[in-house]
Amino acid sequence: QASFKIQQDFLNKNIVITAGGTQENLDPVRYLTNRSSGKMGYALAKVAQKRGANVTLISGVTKLSPPVGIEVKKVITTADMATTVKIAFEKADIMIMAAAVSDYRVANPAKQKVKKDNDHWLVDLVKNEDILKSLGKLKGKQILVGFAAETENLIANASKKMLAKNLDLLVANDVSRNDIGFGTDENEVTLLQPNQDAIQLKRANKDKIADKILDTILKIKN
Ligand code: CTP
Ligand code: CA
Repeated sequence: QASFKIQQDFLNKNIVITAGGTQENLDPVRYLTNRSSGKMGYALAKVAQKRGANVTLISGVTKLSPPVGIEVKKVITTADMATTVKIAFEKADIMIMAAAVSDYRVANPAKQKVKKDNDHWLVDLVKNEDILKSLGKLKGKQILVGFAAETENLIANASKKMLAKNLDLLVANDVSRNDIGFGTDENEVTLLQPNQDAIQLKRANKDKIADKILDTILKIKN
């Protein structure tokens, strides 16, 4: 009889993972959001737990069902996510920001439903906190991992983000391709680390990509 042993190489490690997109209200019935499905972050949570980690999943809005046995904290807005993430970060050994965080929020969301009385509706957007950048400043012994979604100059733009946010690892995602990335079950990413050669991962399903990301995290010495 064959027996499979899953390697428990993340035993006793506290991993906090964010996933999905945040939403910003325009009025009580409408919101702004992005194309994130949450699949990459949920795959990371599932695989990390299999490998023995204590996983906290901080989830924006997704259509995915919560992975069995994982503590999920649900958030909606970027401000909600920022508060929840900062608390969890204190006890984290590893923090992975896979969420697609809304960069802007509506300056003055309407208290009542906006009626279609006007031909134009000009919306004033103000910039949200960059949660990952804040974590980069707060960072102690934690390993800090971010994602970058780019439609052009993938490596150059992603490297800038890695340095600006004080990351130990950045997962660079080319979101201009619609066969991979947003909403799909497969992904093809490049892993960037300070002062190291880029690692180009082959196209694979998101569970496999999650495993490779976790393999790389294990090798980081802080
Ligand atoms: N991020 C964050 N808080 C924000 C925006 C982004 O924590 N307000 C995180 C994302 O979770 C991701 C990383 O920052 O891990 C990069 O997100 P991305 O959208 O690619 O880059 P930005 O820094 O937001 O820059 P831009 O959207 O202008 O490319
Ligand atoms: Ca952004």
